[in-house]
Amino acid sequence: MEGQPPQSTVVVCSNEDGVTFPRQREVVLTESFAVVLQASGLGGEPEGLLYHAGAQEHPGATRLEIPYANLAAQSAEIRGELLEAIERVLRGADFILGEEVRRFELSFAELCGARFAVTVNSGTDALVLALRALGVGPGDEVVTVPNSFVATTSCIVMVGARPVFVDVRSDYNLDPAQLERVMTPRTKAILPVHLTGRPADMDPIMALAKARRVAVVEDAAQAVLAEYRGRKVGSIGAIGCFSLHPLKTLGACGDAGVLTTQDEELRERLLLLRNLGLRTRDDCTRWSGNSRLDTIQAAVLLVKLKYVHEWTEKRRAHASLYRSALNGIPELDIPTDKPHEKAVYHTFVIQADRRDDLKRYLALRGIGTAVHYPVPIHLQSAARDLGYHRGMFPVAEHQAGRILSLPVYPELRADEIDHICGAIHAFYGT
Ligand SMILES: Cc1ncc(COP(=O)(O)O)c(C=O)c1O
Repeated sequence: MEGQPPQSTVVVCSNEDGVTFPRQREVVLTESFAVVLQASGLGGEPEGLLYHAGAQEHPGATRLEIPYANLAAQSAEIRGELLEAIERVLRGADFILGEEVRRFELSFAELCGARFAVTVNSGTDALVLALRALGVGPGDEVVTVPNSFVATTSCIVMVGARPVFVDVRSDYNLDPAQLERVMTPRTKAILPVHLTGRPADMDPIMALAKARRVAVVEDAAQAVLAEYRGRKVGSIGAIGCFSLHPLKTLGACGDAGVLTTQDEELRERLLLLRNLGLRTRDDCTRWSGNSRLDTIQAAVLLVKLKYVHEWTEKRRAHASLYRSALNGIPELDIPTDKPHEKAVYHTFVIQADRRDDLKRYLALRGIGTAVHYPVPIHLQSAARDLGYHRGMFPVAEHQAGRILSLPVYPELRADEIDHICGAIHAFYGT
């Protein structure tokens, strides 16, 4: 590469799925993302996610590089406000369960149409604490989907219960028609996921849960502000669990999560569970861990909360642009909203014939994409002892080989979406 001017510098980080790539390792982008992937040990296959975490364009760069996600752009827009908020926390030095935590909880509950919100340090802990608060434990079964992020299942195993999977529908969400068949007297809860930011079909799920007297925990990790029949997700089941991971539609500057509930008793239990079971500093009422959200992250989230409606509308507008531009490519399935749903497009997931070739083709043209998620949970090696095998969830398995998430972050420009759609048309010769 000696003697060649670099076109841009990117930083390869970890993806939201917890797969760690060389963090903060800078590599020079000369020809294409493929070079970056090779240099970062990911091989020539563009399977990893690339984030512009502090990327700088070289003045000579001409090619349009569109990363899958662009966290640096969001931070840059509101950098002054974020720094002020952090500075205030530093001055006050109330780092643990400070005033900002309480204020964020009040605002987030209001945002979701829930009576209460309890913050924690990740979406994963939110799920674990939700199940513990509902008394789910050894001997119990929890019904969920196999196509989510692994946290949706690991939380069930972490509390000692058994995950029971049902297949999904074409909208990637739990198929309520299959629930009855898998429920047993040991079923203690149903855990639907609002995957991609689209609400699961909650009415039939809630009806069956009521009839069988089991609790519903909503995994709303990807779906802040999504609506189902006029109700915000997180306000429908017994407990809603949200991730506020930086890549989510409302994300902290680090790990963060929050639970919502309408039930005061559940709220009290969650408050204890997130803080070592401590009622006061010297009164430990039950064994638990430390899942508290840092005051600094709450301060950051309070700033970002002001923008979440605007950012969500931008995601929706991007989805509309994609829909019009990609309409009519027979090899693609494009997501559309049903009349009673308002999705938030945490991810904009298309299904594509020759998905891996398309992904590679786009990567070679500087367009980052991702797959959420390539290996269904029941086929993960951790799931071996659960007794599932390939072929048991045909819809989820089929989708796993076809899904592709296109960039949809709020800061994306219309001309960038045009460019992406142009490349997709070129790939299919349409
Ligand atoms: C559907 C789903 N559930 C749970 C989680 C876990 O959230 P966190 O990464 O904040 O622990 C995620 C995050 O990726 C998710 O997408």
